[in-house]
Amino acid sequence: MKALVLYDSLGGNTEKVAKRISSTLADGGVESELVKVSEDTDMDLYDYDLLFLGSPVIAWGPTNTMRDFVMKKLKEYHKERIPPSAPLRPGKFAVSFCTFSGTHIGENEAIPLTKWFSSFLEHIGCQVMAEWNIVGEFHKPGEHNTNGRLGDISGRPNERDLLDVENRVKGIVVGLAAWMT
Ligand SMILES: Cc1cc2nc3c(=O)[nH]c(=O)nc-3n(C[C@H](O)[C@H](O)[C@H](O)COP(=O)(O)O)c2cc1C
Repeated sequence: MKALVLYDSLGGNTEKVAKRISSTLADGGVESELVKVSEDTDMDLYDYDLLFLGSPVIAWGPTNTMRDFVMKKLKEYHKERIPPSAPLRPGKFAVSFCTFSGTHIGENEAIPLTKWFSSFLEHIGCQVMAEWNIVGEFHKPGEHNTNGRLGDISGRPNERDLLDVENRVKGIVVGLAAWMT
């Protein structure tokens, strides 16, 4: 099994999560690549069996760089590899994740993004195993980190959040035992 952790991060929160996913995969004996998306990023997603796709929530959506990457890939695959009904491809799995501050309306600020990722992943035939919305502090100090809908989110994701991510990744790896060759 080969995994890809593809993410964007403007201030480091999502990167912390991506790195913890990657190190946990390595500890579990899963071969994986960790890639921060850029304008030049261009791999074939079908080369991987387990995809982790993540971004910070920026105005309820992904970063521009991540959006451009996903739309580029959708366009590339659409003609040849995404037939109507988007059949599941056996042995292809995925997880959508994001970090978000939820200042105004809580987790509802994150759900559209992980659903958007999942929609793309399902289009390319992956079975989406999970959607993880992880709290991340707002980088401009001020009341966004203390008076928002989620309360005090200073310092998030903290070690406890990252341990939670680690345990979830372990669960995914154990769940995919049948494909772990
Ligand atoms: C320009 C900008 C827009 C943001 N918009 C939202 C938003 O709509 N909803 C939300 O919950 N968090 C929003 N956030 C907070 C980020 O999603 C959060 O701080 C995230 O953890 C940042 O991740 P990063 O450090 O990987 O960039 C925004 C942050 C920035 C800088």
